[in-house]
Amino acid sequence: MKIAIPKERRTGELRVAASPDTVKKFIGLGFSVAVEAGAGSGSAVPDEAFQGAGASLAADAKSLLADADIVLKVARPLPEEVGLMKKGAVLIANLAALVNKAEVEAYAKAGLTAFAMELVPRITRAQSMDILSSQANLAGYRAVIDAAAVYGRGFPMMMTAAGTVAPAKALILGAGVAGLQAIATAKRLGAVVYAYDVRAAAKEQVESLGGKFVMVDESAMKAAETSGGYAKEMGEEYKKKQAEVLADAVKKADIIICTALIPGKPAPRLVTAEMVKGMRPGAVIVDLAVEMGGNCELSELDQVVVKHGVTLVGHSNMASRIAVDASTLYAKNLLNFLQPLVDKETKALKINFDDEIVKGALVAHDGKVVHPALTGEGGQ
Ligand code: NAI
Repeated sequence: MKIAIPKERRTGELRVAASPDTVKKFIGLGFSVAVEAGAGSGSAVPDEAFQGAGASLAADAKSLLADADIVLKVARPLPEEVGLMKKGAVLIANLAALVNKAEVEAYAKAGLTAFAMELVPRITRAQSMDILSSQANLAGYRAVIDAAAVYGRGFPMMMTAAGTVAPAKALILGAGVAGLQAIATAKRLGAVVYAYDVRAAAKEQVESLGGKFVMVDESAMKAAETSGGYAKEMGEEYKKKQAEVLADAVKKADIIICTALIPGKPAPRLVTAEMVKGMRPGAVIVDLAVEMGGNCELSELDQVVVKHGVTLVGHSNMASRIAVDASTLYAKNLLNFLQPLVDKETKALKINFDDEIVKGALVAHDGKVVHPALTGEGGQ
């Protein structure tokens, strides 16, 4: 069985879906691995490192994909890449399947067995395969580093002979995977950290990292979490109260890191233009939710802009801005996902279609779109 690792082709994507370490492990499992020339260049993995791990090198996508049984990618393939894959091949990537239904239909039409890694259920057994967590964690870290880089002041308190520098006040909106890492990173840099989330469970987690929790309505928070651990969209009355409490917290903040998301919905609007106007000149907002419409009304996709004296950072694909570590962890997630699908004796793929993880992630198989969230037979 041949595993192929193409070079990522989407703009701004610097990650790669394998590391020399995972290549070695795949070869140990009985696969052969081919890597497209230059696939690791954005992640500091030279072709020679992949070759040293036992991979062969393919000059282009065409020769790489023509006979590949399994294709590992970071971002979903471009239509021309799908056209190069053979019928019956297994595609594993972050397919963003729920928002790209036509593309999933194209995978089915091409006869691919397609797994959407973002849909792997967040159960204990699948934690080591969780690309959302591995990438969001690094994105949360990188967001704070980006904020520090454009902030014209320091983060820690510094007492010097020339005077005292006050510590920065950071406000983290959304305390999920990315938000918690942003809290920890801002804390390590010496900021005083405040954080807000709608889920009750988040309060204790924020406090355990040394953050101060911004409380809107304790009783409403108890009902804000779905059984899957995600946030629900809040009611109008709550939103009004939230706006009042946040207006005050935003005014006092030097740095805001926005990470609040609601699965399948536009990002909640937490920072209005009016609130930005009331911030200190030189303040910074990094909006990780920008791809889903943004938590801040004024942030712009893939732009760094200054409005009302506040720098708004709107990079999409933050994980790609820390590509070396992001690739290593992502590659490991894929290895952990693929390993249980391999029959140890025959060294061939033996997919158990009744397995909860397989069912959760499989979107196309046997010429058909199969995921219930895409066929209209149910949610995730
Ligand atoms: P996410 O990326 O969907 O959302 C980020 C955060 O935004 C969440 O904490 C959410 O509560 C918050 N949020 C939504 N609306 C908001 C609003 N109006 N104001 C403020 N905050 C708002 O979520 P993420 O980071 O992927 O994970 C969220 C939760 O999922 C975790 O805390 C955990 O409970 C669960 N999870 C479980 C895992 C597992 O393996 N069992 C792994 C990772 C996460």
